[in-house]
Amino acid sequence: MIDIEKLQSRSGIIGNSDSIREVLDLIAQVAPVDITVLISGESGTGKEMIAKAIHKFSKRSQDDMITVNCGAIPSGIIESELFGHKKGSFTGANEDRKGYFESAHKGTIFLDEIGETPLETQVKLLRVLEEGEFMRVGDSKTLYTDVRVIAATNKDLRELINKSQFRQDLYFRLKTVQVDLPPLRNRIEDISQLVERFALEFTRKNDIPYRGFIPEAIRFMKNYNWPGNVRELKNFVESILVLQKGERITLKMVDDKLGVPQNIHNDNLPVVINQSAEQAERELILRQLLLLRQDVGLIKEIMNNTKNISVPSPSDVSFIPNDDHSKLTDNMEVDVDGQKLVRNDAIGDMSLEDLEREAIVRTLNYFYNNRRKAAKSLGMSERTLYRKIHDYGLSKKNKSYRSTKE
Ligand SMILES: Nc1ncnc2c1ncn2[C@@H]1O[C@H](COP(=O)(O)OP(=O)(O)OP(=O)(O)O)[C@@H](O)[C@H]1O
Ligand SMILES: [Mg+2]
Repeated sequence: MIDIEKLQSRSGIIGNSDSIREVLDLIAQVAPVDITVLISGESGTGKEMIAKAIHKFSKRSQDDMITVNCGAIPSGIIESELFGHKKGSFTGANEDRKGYFESAHKGTIFLDEIGETPLETQVKLLRVLEEGEFMRVGDSKTLYTDVRVIAATNKDLRELINKSQFRQDLYFRLKTVQVDLPPLRNRIEDISQLVERFALEFTRKNDIPYRGFIPEAIRFMKNYNWPGNVRELKNFVESILVLQKGERITLKMVDDKLGVPQNIHNDNLPVVINQSAEQAERELILRQLLLLRQDVGLIKEIMNNTKNISVPSPSDVSFIPNDDHSKLTDNMEVDVDGQKLVRNDAIGDMSLEDLEREAIVRTLNYFYNNRRKAAKSLGMSERTLYRKIHDYGLSKKNKSYRSTKE
């Protein structure tokens, strides 16, 4: 049985969480046995690292592990890449060529992103997995290879089976042993160790002084979602160390670069964003304009739909607290509980000037022509009110004001 500490130190797999311990135990058990392993996990969780560790602790470690990214090879040439081809089998096949399965003889082949393999190729993979047999493209001679297959996927293969994009028989053959790597957000207890190791390795390699992360900074990082998992964490640590030029890493530095922790994201809280003040301000203004446009659209819609007056509340802008009305025609008004209200559908016919004149007339009358009180209520100085009375040509008739422009 392989010693876990040795496995961990020689493979570089960092972590002390229960889930990483389980993964290490499983690797220790299956690595020496010639058995197919399927590794699943989100992007950046360390699938390739696990595959390398399995190969390193297998009996095949003296030979190579060939990595094939099934998702990166165009479907038209994937079979020729995997199984080789015979000279003349297609345009451009100028000579016989070995494929990866032949080259990996005695060693290991790591089929990364196995879920991306075209269905036609999957049948041939199943055959090579079960019998070790395959044929070069354009050849009828059966060849034999002795390879151990390790496959990885960041997709749920059962879902692909349901969508008829992955063969069930191949899935069962691959998952003889399955290693599930949990996302980093589900093993946050590993974060401090990962950060420390990545920081030390990086600063040593690049001759940067390293003064550590303060505990609050690490705590903040534990609340972040890490959608890119360990890869994202590694890149984050390296870039913050470069940007902070050997300073001790504080909560603010991490916060500035990482933004709001996604685990505790709440739409009602102020959001920390990775933007300059100008960018943020511009965005805020644009957002407000958009909201304003939506409001205007909504108001228009309401006004178009309001054929019959609905009763507005006294706080409604169209409320006018007096029965004296100079500019409004009868069909612009409606009497509700003894109050004269401007009909909503009449508002579109009135200019701001009309409304202002109307408000001045009514307010003056409401305060029995007391200009000081009227000015205060209208939110203007007495001098302005005086000027407006003059400009609008308002005159007092029978103790109340009238617009002379009617
Ligand atoms: N437990 C770990 N300890 C140390 N380094 C790790 C660990 N897990 C992942 N890494 C590092 O994170 C990076 C991403 O790992 P890896 O390439 O193995 O992920 P992956 O699951 O294959 O990602 P993808 O699905 O995107 O191919 C590598 O630099 C790897 O060294
Ligand atoms: Mg990978």
